[in-house]
Amino acid sequence: MSTVVVTGTQWGDEGKGKIVDYLAQQADTVVRYQGGSNAGHTVVVDGEAYKLRLMPSGILYKGAHCVVGNGVVFDPKIFLEEMDGLAARGIDLSGIRISNRAHVVLPYHSIMDGIGDEKRGKNKIGTTKRGIGPCYMDKANRIGIRVCDFIDPDEFARRLKEVLAIKNKELKLLYDHEPLDYDAVLKEYLGYADRLRPYVCDTIALLHDEIKQGRKILFEGAQATMLDIDYGTYPYVTASHPISGGVPVGAGVAPRDIDKVVGIVKAYCTRVGEGPFPTEQLNAIGDRIREEGHEYGVVTGRPRRTGWLDACVVRYAGMLSGIDYMAVTRLDILDNFDEIKMCVDYKYKGEILHEIPASLKVLAEVEPVYETFPGWKCDITKVRKYEDLPENAKKYLERMAEVTGIKLGIVSVGPNRDETIVIAKDIF
Ligand code: GDP
Ligand code: IMO
Ligand code: MG
Repeated sequence: MSTVVVTGTQWGDEGKGKIVDYLAQQADTVVRYQGGSNAGHTVVVDGEAYKLRLMPSGILYKGAHCVVGNGVVFDPKIFLEEMDGLAARGIDLSGIRISNRAHVVLPYHSIMDGIGDEKRGKNKIGTTKRGIGPCYMDKANRIGIRVCDFIDPDEFARRLKEVLAIKNKELKLLYDHEPLDYDAVLKEYLGYADRLRPYVCDTIALLHDEIKQGRKILFEGAQATMLDIDYGTYPYVTASHPISGGVPVGAGVAPRDIDKVVGIVKAYCTRVGEGPFPTEQLNAIGDRIREEGHEYGVVTGRPRRTGWLDACVVRYAGMLSGIDYMAVTRLDILDNFDEIKMCVDYKYKGEILHEIPASLKVLAEVEPVYETFPGWKCDITKVRKYEDLPENAKKYLERMAEVTGIKLGIVSVGPNRDETIVIAKDIF
């Protein structure tokens, strides 16, 4: 198999970065296909943490191609900050390739995201304020600026003049914000363009070439199924398609070119921002999961909402993305719990629901049907073979596979590369 998609099955922060980095040992190329700097993917190598935002998590392997696909909303300022941070730590950046069709996040996008979400008052989404929604809005509204135009000084000057005239009116009328100065923005961003130009190319041609040559490609999802703009808890979602269906549009490869899909499942659930979360534990259990798991956002530092594993959501993700294998992460965080619960069904007005309700009113009222599992009460971080896991941990995992209908592929027992148990040998 030569192309693998890694996608989040819950509300993000499942450990996609760790698993992408792990699988990238065998990959030639790692591709981001959607989202932007709203992502926060932590990769730990030899105890050293790298917090990646826009940068594909394959960057820690010398020579690997790291592609920012056309479906990404690309913030040049943040990307350069990431590049500088990585270069200072001795990381080789020569494999970076940025799609000439990706849309550029500009300063007005982040301003509008921040003020716009606050203006919603009690209906706020709790966005990361990185300009993601406003940039995708401009793309759909056909007033976005793409990387190919951004790196062409004349074209960028012309496009920015046109668009900033519109945006400055919006900033004044809708956001009560002072206008942005055209010359200042142009000067700052032309500087970024100069630095980034050498990395820009037609990544569609690059990827097709690589597929033809049988090179191994890993597609790295950001966010997750329940934050997908079509399939998540709309409107409490992001503005892109994290599911595997996002890969063909966000990277320009054909659906038939996807060989395998790996769904990342955190052993419990978390959510950052607003919106329904059926298995949320607003109690001592939730606090304990947050503390044991250090569940605080990478991008915004916000405490993450916490709860038990919702297997209904994972089953839904499996169906939508055609997940071949689950990679279950952070199982070690549950090491000290006496009892662990898993939601296996939803009940609504006394009846079992067979699908994830579209209506948030219904979703807010569903009653999770829990199964309770005895904890294993020991440290599993040193386990490297599936058969060496405690029986109670295996029972929990096997029930998860049964309820979701997805095979177990990987179990992760710590943030480091070696803290990984591989069950499926045919992922790549
Ligand atoms: P992502 O956004 O899906 O890449 O996930 P984040 O990086 O935001 O959050 C996952 C966190 O869990 C990171 O700090 C990882 O280093 C860490 N992590 C990943 N897998 C494991 C695991 O199996 N055990 C533990 N303890 N930490 C893990
Ligand atoms: P990774 O890739 C968790 C959430 C925000 C908010 C909603 C919309 O690290 O898993 P946005 O800024 O995208 O318009 O915010 O989506 N969100 C995430 N939550 N992990 C992420 O990324 C997220 N990216 C966005 O908190 O609720
Ligand atoms: Mg994250």
